[in-house]
Amino acid sequence: MTLLVTGGAGFIGSAVVRLAVSQGRRVVNLDALTYAACLENLVEVAESPLYTFENSDIRDPEALARIFERHRPTAVMHLAAESHVDRSIDGPGIFVETNVTGTYNLLQSARAHWERLGRPAEFRFHHVSTDEVFGSLGTTGKFTEETPYAPNSPYSASKAASDHLVRAWHETYGLPVVMSNCSNNYGPYHFPEKLIPVVILNALAGREIPVYGSGENVRDWLYVEDHAEALLTVLERGRAGRSYNIGGENEATNLELVHKLCAILDRLKPWSRPYSTLIQHVSDRPGHDLRYAIDPTRIREELGWRPSVTLDEGLERTVRWYLENEDWWRALQERDGVGRRLGTA
Ligand SMILES: NC(=O)c1ccc[n+]([C@@H]2O[C@H](COP(=O)([O-])OP(=O)(O)OC[C@H]3O[C@@H](n4cnc5c(N)ncnc54)[C@H](O)[C@@H]3O)[C@@H](O)[C@H]2O)c1
Repeated sequence: MTLLVTGGAGFIGSAVVRLAVSQGRRVVNLDALTYAACLENLVEVAESPLYTFENSDIRDPEALARIFERHRPTAVMHLAAESHVDRSIDGPGIFVETNVTGTYNLLQSARAHWERLGRPAEFRFHHVSTDEVFGSLGTTGKFTEETPYAPNSPYSASKAASDHLVRAWHETYGLPVVMSNCSNNYGPYHFPEKLIPVVILNALAGREIPVYGSGENVRDWLYVEDHAEALLTVLERGRAGRSYNIGGENEATNLELVHKLCAILDRLKPWSRPYSTLIQHVSDRPGHDLRYAIDPTRIREELGWRPSVTLDEGLERTVRWYLENEDWWRALQERDGVGRRLGTA
């Protein structure tokens, strides 16, 4: 297999690239190296003969055509995206350009390439998406693959639009696609603007730990290395034209999550007072969804995949990783917008 991964210098993409190369797959990583990218995430594969990097942009269709021609991939896993909800509130345009138009460009290049190869049934275009496309749940229920789309943020609306394009390229042109919609990821190499790293790094700096609104919003948390395993499972064994929900089976309110992180830090890096005394409730995010939860029956029953890491184990590993990798996160804190409250419009 030659797997073309887009967004492989990001948080989830780099976990996929590391795993795929370690399992012997040839991987071409196509990434535009936006503010969210970090090539240091890939040091362990950078010298591997199985790994190639293409610094390229999915908004550039000619560059995509050249890359398909040069590497002749047998599968594509598409993760490149603008991914931060708060940034999408302040600047939605780039989310439409990258997540919608960029996905359209990639579909067109993949389709042309697949047709040149003679339309092989075993080719795969795997589109990686989010549970946020389904909108918000009340206190009960879970998202299945049949849940109607109801995105509420510019980010989730742009991902929903890209999901629809992928589905249409299968129905109309026969492109063998698979799709997956997953819950919130966390773990090593998580960019320091997202909730879990913000909590850890603010606590370590003795700074306020912001909790949006009451903190009652519920998320399901998926350890990123579990997700990478699930994605390669869907890529290789998922049925063409089908989508799979991927969850961690780990629901928690944001406030519970923050308290768990503070308790781990109290144990691993004791401070003069409990870290939870730094928690401050701040104004809520506009359009903040109350609850997301995944029904993982399809991926469990059809593909035999289930998460291996509980939330408590995953959070402990994550906190330890941030304590041991200060050089990695210090450099990223200098990037534009990191450490500032965004998305209050
Ligand atoms: N992080 C999560 O919790 C989560 C949950 C569900 C789904 N997803 C989806 O998974 C995918 C990866 O998420 P992530 O958290 O790793 O994102 P990320 O922001 O960490 O990484 C995105 C990567 O895409 C690259 N990129 C952005 N625009 C590009 C462009 N125009 N051309 C080429 N590369 C470009 C960036 O440089 C970066 O390396 C996204 O599609 C996201 O919607 C993420």
